Amino acid sequence: MITPTPPASVPSPDSSSRSHHDESLVPAYTVPNPLRLADGSFVTTREDWIIRRRPELLDLFATHMYGRIPASASNLKNRYEITDTHSAALGGQATRRQITIHFGSDPNFPKLFLLLYLPNNVTAPVPVFLVPNFHGNHTVHNDPGITLPTAWMRNDPIYGVTDNRASAAGRGANSSRWPVEAILARGYGLATAYYGDVFPDHPSGRENSILPFLAPDPGAPAAPAAIAAWSWAISRAADYLISDRAIDAYRLCLTGHSRLGKAVLWAGAQDTRFGLIISNCSGCCGAAFSRRQFGETFAVINQKFPHWFTPRFHSYSGKESDFPADQHELLALLTPRPLLVCSAQDDAWADPMGEYVSTLHATPVYQLFGKSGPISPQPPNLDTLFPAPLSYHIRAGKHDVLHADWQTYINFAQTYLARK
Ligand code: GCU
Repeated sequence: MITPTPPASVPSPDSSSRSHHDESLVPAYTVPNPLRLADGSFVTTREDWIIRRRPELLDLFATHMYGRIPASASNLKNRYEITDTHSAALGGQATRRQITIHFGSDPNFPKLFLLLYLPNNVTAPVPVFLVPNFHGNHTVHNDPGITLPTAWMRNDPIYGVTDNRASAAGRGANSSRWPVEAILARGYGLATAYYGDVFPDHPSGRENSILPFLAPDPGAPAAPAAIAAWSWAISRAADYLISDRAIDAYRLCLTGHSRLGKAVLWAGAQDTRFGLIISNCSGCCGAAFSRRQFGETFAVINQKFPHWFTPRFHSYSGKESDFPADQHELLALLTPRPLLVCSAQDDAWADPMGEYVSTLHATPVYQLFGKSGPISPQPPNLDTLFPAPLSYHIRAGKHDVLHADWQTYINFAQTYLARK
């Protein structure tokens, strides 16, 4: 995991885009009205939102930020190869399945390797958390049955990675973020896949990613990039999950941390099969309100991670206010599904206040659907889950996922994710 520390000096195209961590330096801004259509008229009904405004916003984020995966990608047929089923995993608590998802028939197309734990001793299909991982499936738990990844990985002794390859030394190395037994004990399954399976996270990762197969022209202004690729793969994992009869297809919970928090918001915005979405410390181009220019800015993110966004997005460096939307409108695309935006108090780089501001300004869209969200300019107190289907939570501490965070996620799901 890259530590969320800003680089010592950040070149900015102009002073207005300089990264800061000072509330008094937040520039004056206008909040784009999520209910205002491009033609200047206003959404007044749920139908208007669904038929007119939602497609407009999806198009804006695809065209200007994440890029667009061509519709032809949906012609690919997934093939699921179940490589492992173990009905007495984790001391008998779970059934473990590992599924290789093949896309189409081209053998060179990268594959997605899904790891799934389902609780045993249940009488009905279970809800599942789908959560992409940063370091490989084998780092989630020290279960020796988890297949080691073969995809490129950033060298890191903590995760046992040398020569960009995973090794058994990494087993369980990230388990501080994955309380697998506790999730299962509360009746939820857990599905995860390594994000690097579909796009190795470095500036030249595209050539070994799924994108040459999906969107051959990388120079197109709205060409998709890494976040679009991760989001696309998240939906392909969902394709498998809803086909598995042990899983309640209406209760798929999608969760992601940091850059994968950005990816899950974009995946959830496009794919309405996700019944509940949680972003954790997703920051710039995730849940954080961009026009505040607090913490990470467009100029910084484009400079440090040029492979994450569509080429056109680079022209917005230093120009947050020119961007034709803001991140509250990304959150609004999840309406009316339960959405929890999670922040950490010391994670200034991800702008916790900005994550709250976006949540607040998504509320009118949730209200249109008879659902509540925050209405106060003040965020809730630390460790207090805002009681609404559009919710916000901030805890003490740093940019991370803690076992305690998972209890918050599950409490939120228990309250707002209705059984259909
Ligand atoms: C960096 C990056 C963030 C990102 C984070 C992460 O800090 O600047 O945008 O969210 O890495 O993914 O850990």
